[in-house]
Amino acid sequence: MIAVRAHAKINLGLKVQGLREDGYHEINTTLQSIDLHDELRLEPAPELTLRVEGDYPVPADSSNLAMRAAAALSARHGSRGARILLIKRIPPGSGLGGGSSDAAATLMGLDRLWETRSGPEALYDIARTLGSDVPFFLYGGTCLGVGRGDDLFPLPDLPERQVLVVWTGVGLSTKEVYAGLPESLTHGRNLSSMRGFNPVPAFRAPGDPGTFPGSFPGWGPADARSLAEAPRVDNDLEEASFARIPQLRWIKERLLEGGAVAAAMSGSGSAVFGLYPLDEDLEGIRTTLEREVLSVFVCRTLSREAYGNRLLVLP
Ligand code: C5P
Repeated sequence: MIAVRAHAKINLGLKVQGLREDGYHEINTTLQSIDLHDELRLEPAPELTLRVEGDYPVPADSSNLAMRAAAALSARHGSRGARILLIKRIPPGSGLGGGSSDAAATLMGLDRLWETRSGPEALYDIARTLGSDVPFFLYGGTCLGVGRGDDLFPLPDLPERQVLVVWTGVGLSTKEVYAGLPESLTHGRNLSSMRGFNPVPAFRAPGDPGTFPGSFPGWGPADARSLAEAPRVDNDLEEASFARIPQLRWIKERLLEGGAVAAAMSGSGSAVFGLYPLDEDLEGIRTTLEREVLSVFVCRTLSREAYGNRLLVLP
């Protein structure tokens, strides 16, 4: 038996460049792994089967991305079988990439279980057919994602932070959020990915005051310390999602009031996160939010090395 962790991600900013001819939106985003995770247990078996346990019910049929990933890898290797148990801890429809991460973890886990030795290119090729977010989870850490979000550029690790992730319990469909974007975000036709992209790293070195005015939109509270350390996390999808679930705006405001150096919605939502220094006591804000929403997670960001080390659950 092999057990693998499928970690969640947050988006440290997401910019929509325009609508592509294939119907997808051209985006620029910074993806960041966090330690919240699902777990997959994989055992050899004659057939491919999936069972789901844990905190959130998701379908265990062929629509499940873990099952689709297993079927895609199996098809390339003359039809293999495995008994898969998915223990769900990442809320579905939250923009935290749970389903996509399950798919990538299944690919990496089954590649090991079946000794198919696919190599990174082959796994990447399968991953991108499963969804725009799936390839990121083959790398983890901090990556710039352009194109559909699946052209990945690994970035240097950011300083480790606490992340408070808040989920109302109401999921959002990525497809519907993108479909609800205003014309001002989708009219772009010049889709060279890096064009118009602000190449400022999401985090600056602590103590570096930088050249940005304190009033720059998307920055955290304007005291000197947080300005020096505050990342830009503006997410162009927020307004479309906040229109569907007004409570998301309220959550973001509470996170910022509670001392977050930055707060934003993750991906297409509906989870909202705040970033905090490692020594910040988050019990007060956690208790306040837990009275109003279904799930609050106190997490940490993961470096690429930590992500790799934590992938396999050791006995
Ligand atoms: O790639 P994935 O299957 O996760 O995307 C789900 C839906 O979200 C797509 O069918 C598309 O409608 C929308 N999407 C988009 N632009 C992206 C990523 C997703 O329009 N960059």
